[in-house]
Amino acid sequence: MRKLAMLGGGFIGRFYTDSIQGYRNKDKVVSIYARREETATQFAKDYNVKHWTTDMEEAIAHPEVEVVCVALPNNLHEQAVLLCCKHKKAVICTKPLARNAAEAKRMLEAVEKAGIFAGYLEDLVYTPKHIKAHESVMNGALGRILWAKSRETHPGPHSNWFWDMEQAGGGCMLDLGCHCVEIARSYIGKDIRPVEVMCWADTQVKPIDAEDHGIALVKYENGAIGQFEVSWTFRGGMDLRDEVMGTEGTIWINSFLRTGFEMFTTGKGADYVAEKAESNTGWLFPVGDEMNELGYNHMFMDMFDAIEEGREAKETFYDGYVVNCILDACYKSAKTKQWEPVQLDIWRGKTGVTKDGHLVEYDADHYLVKEEMTHYGAKKLILKEKATGKFIERVEK
Ligand SMILES: NC(=O)c1ccc[n+]([C@@H]2O[C@H](COP(=O)([O-])OP(=O)(O)OC[C@H]3O[C@@H](n4cnc5c(N)ncnc54)[C@H](O)[C@@H]3O)[C@@H](O)[C@H]2O)c1
Repeated sequence: MRKLAMLGGGFIGRFYTDSIQGYRNKDKVVSIYARREETATQFAKDYNVKHWTTDMEEAIAHPEVEVVCVALPNNLHEQAVLLCCKHKKAVICTKPLARNAAEAKRMLEAVEKAGIFAGYLEDLVYTPKHIKAHESVMNGALGRILWAKSRETHPGPHSNWFWDMEQAGGGCMLDLGCHCVEIARSYIGKDIRPVEVMCWADTQVKPIDAEDHGIALVKYENGAIGQFEVSWTFRGGMDLRDEVMGTEGTIWINSFLRTGFEMFTTGKGADYVAEKAESNTGWLFPVGDEMNELGYNHMFMDMFDAIEEGREAKETFYDGYVVNCILDACYKSAKTKQWEPVQLDIWRGKTGVTKDGHLVEYDADHYLVKEEMTHYGAKKLILKEKATGKFIERVEK
């Protein structure tokens, strides 16, 4: 059994606690910190938490607390993590790890110096669909991964601080792109170095300094390309989709809108349908078990198992740091309109990887370009002659 302090009694603090304390779980939040007394006391009442406080350090230092869960606005992550280092408490921190790579690097170095467990709560690589898809990719079902795209778009966040550059550190690219970057990284290989990025970002609708729409390409050292599409101006709910393309196969995942559950209502029922759903009438796309579909259950299982087994979690502060480095490069590229290098002061993956060989041998004299069965019954082979470089056709009847 793990005893936790929850820092933050808002949107994600509640989702996390629903997941941690759900299903007769043995893990328990024993202390809640919130900025306002009414948030802390309401949370303590709703989740039967013994201790509440409006003093962050008091929650972290509470003698019963073994693990601290950071579910605070982005500008408070570093302060919370440094206090966990001071009190030598295991810490798990929500996404994005930090507002930028410099902040993330300080946090990474601090937890490693303090020797405390530090897990990065990137839930979208723990969804049941992602876990299954990732396993297939690791087993080679898709061959060599060439392209991994992830999209998260919705009509915008639910609290004021997200819209403020100083507190949030960025717009939709930092808020949603951090998920997408890690999803693509996990398919391409977290040990493969992200090299450079090209990004477009703009503020198309909202009255804010940050971007409300962004698209980026992330080039990896082995020649694979990651791509993300994120928006705070998308209408129609929360669109979470991933596509992976390899030399031997393809995966398409839709995690939230068209998952096979469709419902029509005139609007007589409850108001809540699913996260960021924009309507509760007409044809709707509810989500069966959001906590599970969004990966929270599997994520906390990995975090607490890792603590008990004395190993690292699948997602660590180092992963959060790499994600921040990629996003910093995206912000730079959006300004310069150039490919920008990903500045990684700390790199722990492979080095000197080259683009994998891509030629498929057909026989001693030819490479195979493709084969296709036509509608008129002929099997066509397109081959390239090694000696001349010419493309030839062979037809098998
Ligand atoms: N899928 C996900 O993993 C996911 C989803 C949503 C949010 N988040 C992350 O969780 C963190 C918190 O987001 P949220 O949606 O819960 O926000 P929120 O506004 O709903 O809640 C934030 C909570 O932090 C506390 N707080 C302490 N000091 C504060 C301050 N100065 N200003 C505002 N709140 C303060 C309050 O208890 C507040 O309820 C962010 O880093 C966000 O990116 C992650």
